[in-house]
Amino acid sequence: MIRCVSCGEKYNNDEIIYTCGNCGSVLELVNDLNIPKETFENRKDTLWKYKELIPVREDKIVTIGEGGTPFCKCDKLGDELDIDLYVKVEGSNPTGSFKDRGMTVGMTKAMELGVDTVGCASTGNTSASLAAYAARAGLRCVVFLPSGKVALGKLAQAMFHGAEVISINGNFDEALEAMTSLALEKYLYLLNSINPYRLEGQKTIGYEIVQDLGWSSPDRIILPVGNAGNISAIWKGISEFYEMGYMDSKAMMTGIQAEGACPITKAFRKKAMDIVPFENPETVATAIRIGSPVSYTKALNAIYDSNGYSETVSDDEILAAQKLLAQKEGIGVEPASAASIAGLMKLREEGIVDKGEQVVCVVTGHVLKDPNTAIEACTEPVEVDANIKKLKELLLNK
Ligand code: F0G
Repeated sequence: MIRCVSCGEKYNNDEIIYTCGNCGSVLELVNDLNIPKETFENRKDTLWKYKELIPVREDKIVTIGEGGTPFCKCDKLGDELDIDLYVKVEGSNPTGSFKDRGMTVGMTKAMELGVDTVGCASTGNTSASLAAYAARAGLRCVVFLPSGKVALGKLAQAMFHGAEVISINGNFDEALEAMTSLALEKYLYLLNSINPYRLEGQKTIGYEIVQDLGWSSPDRIILPVGNAGNISAIWKGISEFYEMGYMDSKAMMTGIQAEGACPITKAFRKKAMDIVPFENPETVATAIRIGSPVSYTKALNAIYDSNGYSETVSDDEILAAQKLLAQKEGIGVEPASAASIAGLMKLREEGIVDKGEQVVCVVTGHVLKDPNTAIEACTEPVEVDANIKKLKELLLNK
């Protein structure tokens, strides 16, 4: 069953519907939660090991092997901050971001429904993922990208997998509004995260974290927030496992936004349920350069219901955290992903994150998604001949 998160109106699973016909709010899938956790043990480590909890037909699955991403204990950084720190590395998914989790499920639903064209608006990663999964499924794919604001790696992926890429003169929010209108007029099947099937895939980040910790929830999960689908999805995953009695506590959901694009944090500070959109969002973390997040209701519910938190970080803090994670722990992430680490550092300093807390930071996309930003943060390599004497001098001078 599909249910409206605000008014509770119900729809059947095969209705092509993105928002509630009654009140206009966002929708979620309600699943049968009656599976013993042993079911998921000793299965191949992709998100489809949780197939009993993902409401699509098994014979239609479109997969490239998503999920089962690394869960890295980060003691160097954790010790400095006096916490027990883990990092969930979503850049290890097939196209290099967590979007693949949502896309494998969303594309499977598209196949079930028998659509011929899929589409999305994107700050980059969703389009890269959609393009790859559409190619695998053999469907036509149309993506709208905010002109000039998509990192190079993501643009390359979307184009190379054969999507019809349209550059919109406007920001992500405007591109999404246009894409949604076309979807409502049935030109295509919308695979942005307003589609509740996407979140059924992404909730498995929450499942995996709990299973990675030996069927226990961390104290806190910290992640970047843009369009606000992922924080909602992870909270759904945590809540479902909790409802089935797999663990006895739930993580505090902690959403980090960039200072120049932070409507959710602003609403949180006022304890509000509504957001005031940012007309001109701006941040170096282009993935989360979003002023009007569609899943804000779900995200704020997740933060309030979990006793969580929301904070902003500056572009400088994001870039410093990106470099720190790369050079201290060997984990290369794109700027938006580093917002979770920057946010952790700020919240630890503010005393919101307590000493000794067990914290999981979700890092959402691979460093190679945005090679330009990575290169700009480094000094150019020195160029010398392959002359051993000169090379020795160089090494000794360091
Ligand atoms: N991190 C990365 C790397 C992202 O690409 C995104 C969103 C987010 C975090 C935020 O997740 O939107 O669920 O709150 N990227 C979308 C896209 C908007 O089009 O690729 P969210």
